[in-house]
Amino acid sequence: MIGENARRSLRINQARLLRRLDELAQRGARDDGGCNRLAFTDADKEGRDLVTGWMRELGMSVSIDAIGNAVAMRPGSEEAPPVMCGSHIDTVRTGGRYDGNLGVLAGLEIIETLNDAGLTTRRPLAVAFFSNEEGARIAPDMMGSLVYVGGLPLEEAHAAVSIDGKRVADELDRIGYRGDAPIPGVIPHAFVELHIEQGPILEAEGIGLGAVTGVQGISWTEVTVRGQANHAGTTPMSYRHDAGYVAAEAAAFVRRLTQEMGGAQVGTVGAITLDPNLVNVVARKAVFTVDLRNTDEKLLQAAEARLAEHLDTIAKAEGVEITTRKLARFEPVEFDRRVIELVEDTAKSLGSTVRQLPAGAGHDAQMLARACPTGMVFTPSVKGISHNPKEHTDPSDLEAGANVLLQVILTLSETDDIPVRA
Ligand code: GLV
Ligand code: MN
Ligand code: MN
Repeated sequence: MIGENARRSLRINQARLLRRLDELAQRGARDDGGCNRLAFTDADKEGRDLVTGWMRELGMSVSIDAIGNAVAMRPGSEEAPPVMCGSHIDTVRTGGRYDGNLGVLAGLEIIETLNDAGLTTRRPLAVAFFSNEEGARIAPDMMGSLVYVGGLPLEEAHAAVSIDGKRVADELDRIGYRGDAPIPGVIPHAFVELHIEQGPILEAEGIGLGAVTGVQGISWTEVTVRGQANHAGTTPMSYRHDAGYVAAEAAAFVRRLTQEMGGAQVGTVGAITLDPNLVNVVARKAVFTVDLRNTDEKLLQAAEARLAEHLDTIAKAEGVEITTRKLARFEPVEFDRRVIELVEDTAKSLGSTVRQLPAGAGHDAQMLARACPTGMVFTPSVKGISHNPKEHTDPSDLEAGANVLLQVILTLSETDDIPVRA
């Protein structure tokens, strides 16, 4: 149990947090300053080895489960479910150094701050990193946290195949991260994730931190178009069954759809491959992805229905065959009101300006929210840029976010129940 005064005066060490962020960014470093640690690759293994090494150096016990989630525990003075923080350390291929990493390394910084002060919390503390949050190499995203809370059977996750043709189970064995900790994992008393906003709102409004209210719904579809390869010069337009054209038309439709729907609807065609992908051959086959997101489940369903209808129409018009495969589908999630308000009130008490806002990206917290009271803290992202090596958050904002995380974690660890705003 930590006294009120000792608790309130604790602060994290900014330089130490930055050092760890920098060191982790050297694993899978890109020439342009970004990170490429796609899930279950060698670079991911290097990042995992580094972070689990730090966890052990801090005196934590580390358990790894069969999907490669790592949970480090620091005992409390009482045996009780832990207060957990954390995030992910995998990145997209064009990743920055903060997405996910901040939440994990801020957790370690909090542990080191407590170690230095010689303080033991009442509830145990856990710092976790969950496997394959990005889903960029292997769908679905948030794979590790989804398995952790029992939302995806382990066998199904193990059987998932990457864009480079590898099975998750084989990749886990290859990098030595198929552990034996029980699944579903330990259900925390509460979960709080610190993350960069990855969008422009906080910076544009000049607000220091975000108290995240929830995460929008996500729908990922892979579309395969089968047409007919033919000569680009000799084939009259009316004779074509052009898979490339259909993919391009569908991509343009996704943009039109978001414009027509307006509001919170976003849509992206982020990957397209054509076969044979040659200048003078009508494409025989196209495979592309559609990422649709909305904070409103009904509107997201409407967007999915309109996409399906449009694919049907263009397939008939061009005489091609279209098949679709769901890669990921998550309904919008609302976080625990008490945790949202605790984040907001704590930020204010530490002198930050703060606003409530929903998350646009997917987060492990949206999976943990199925199992326990959950919330998130956002720090601003310069120019709203993320999934890009230029991703940046000012050190003072990282520090402010980590201090809010520290105080929120301490409040949750010391109080009987999650405090309700007066
Ligand atoms: C994962 O981070 C996503 O939002 O795509
Ligand atoms: Mn992330
Ligand atoms: Mn990401």
